Amino acid sequence: MEKIKMKLTKEEKDILNGAQGPTMAKIMNTLVMFGELAGAKRMVPITHEGHLVTSFGISLIKPLYRIMDEIINAGIAAKWKFTADPRPIDYKNVKCNLLNKLIFSKIMYGQQARYEEQLKKVGLTKNNDFSCTCYLPEMGNTPKYGDILSWAESSAVVFANSVLGARCNRNSGMIDLFGCIVGKVPEFGLLLDENRLANWVVELKTTSLPDAQILGSAIGLTVGDGVPFIKGLDKYLGKELNDKAISYLKDMGAASASNGAVGLYHVQNLTPEAKKNGLKMIATGAKKLIITDKVLEQVYKNYPILWKNMDAKPYMCFIGCPHLSVEQLIDWTHKVTQGLKQNNQQKLSVRTIFTTSPAVLEAFSNTPEYLQLLETGAHLSCICPLMYMNNPIAGKKPIITCSNKLRTYTSARFYTEAQILDIITGKKEK
Ligand code: F3S
Repeated sequence: MEKIKMKLTKEEKDILNGAQGPTMAKIMNTLVMFGELAGAKRMVPITHEGHLVTSFGISLIKPLYRIMDEIINAGIAAKWKFTADPRPIDYKNVKCNLLNKLIFSKIMYGQQARYEEQLKKVGLTKNNDFSCTCYLPEMGNTPKYGDILSWAESSAVVFANSVLGARCNRNSGMIDLFGCIVGKVPEFGLLLDENRLANWVVELKTTSLPDAQILGSAIGLTVGDGVPFIKGLDKYLGKELNDKAISYLKDMGAASASNGAVGLYHVQNLTPEAKKNGLKMIATGAKKLIITDKVLEQVYKNYPILWKNMDAKPYMCFIGCPHLSVEQLIDWTHKVTQGLKQNNQQKLSVRTIFTTSPAVLEAFSNTPEYLQLLETGAHLSCICPLMYMNNPIAGKKPIITCSNKLRTYTSARFYTEAQILDIITGKKEK
């Protein structure tokens, strides 16, 4: 205790000393050590529900289930309930042969049912609350401006910080849970005003609205874990955070967080802190990045293609990493039906899985577009495609995607949304 530099309250010290039992003391100790390493001066209360990145019962991570059992046996429940990232499997909607199923159920995700039970006991908000887009209104885990969070999923953290103006660091799995249990997180990084200032100014000088996934990638690859202030995007997205802007920023942010390590960005005249404080959100000495059509083309051309056979026919296509919004599902439905018509096709020529959250799927099922999309042969699922692809068998299949995050972490081949549309609707090359 003498070695701890952080200023702890009496209650925090008491917890560390075991006043709430040995398990709680270990949890608090982990958070304090994490804070010490990051140079935090104190712990601060979280003010909104949590979100966990660890949603998959991978058999190999045995300590996770042991720790969860210890928490449950000690009678501890999270102070703040939480949602969790998407589940890894959905045999009904995502093609799996017998060998795949065997690998998933016996080797890869053999602990899924046990882990989900543990999550429910510790504080999962609702039985079906598995999605990385927990912040969309249908899922309901939507922080407000200034809320302090204990989240870890990188695409959700960057959205909450940037688009909602909440405050959260890019935590790791288990730290997110421990913060929810104690109800506090160490104060450092993006929780502090000074670290929310932009140290990069990104000037958009393209001839049209760029593909969100490539723009996010170009920003992330250059700024790394910096905070960019983006100028020129409001010209295309407008000055209001409407459904279109939210969907665009969701995808752009996820790409910047996975191709780099961006946890917060500002968009001039659009995102809350940039709207409130204008150019005052730019730190003195901020570096400059100019984005033109040529820069984006170069970024795209540099993506490695990990397929053995470059000319292989796509086995499957994943659209929706991060999970799609209702607006995006409706938009895809219109584009896909139109594309099929133009190409004289009845059904999609590649097995295509649109991934979304359970709550968005329910909302989408009440729109006329729901049946239209299914009629094209498309499938809807709530899984995480990355988890599906993260095994030697699925990883070898020629899978295509318009998600830069999925491209980064798997062997999926990236195409822009416009190219994906042409491929899946069977457009013949001229
Ligand atoms: Fe979400 Fe999984 Fe992609 S968590 S962002 S669908 S990798």
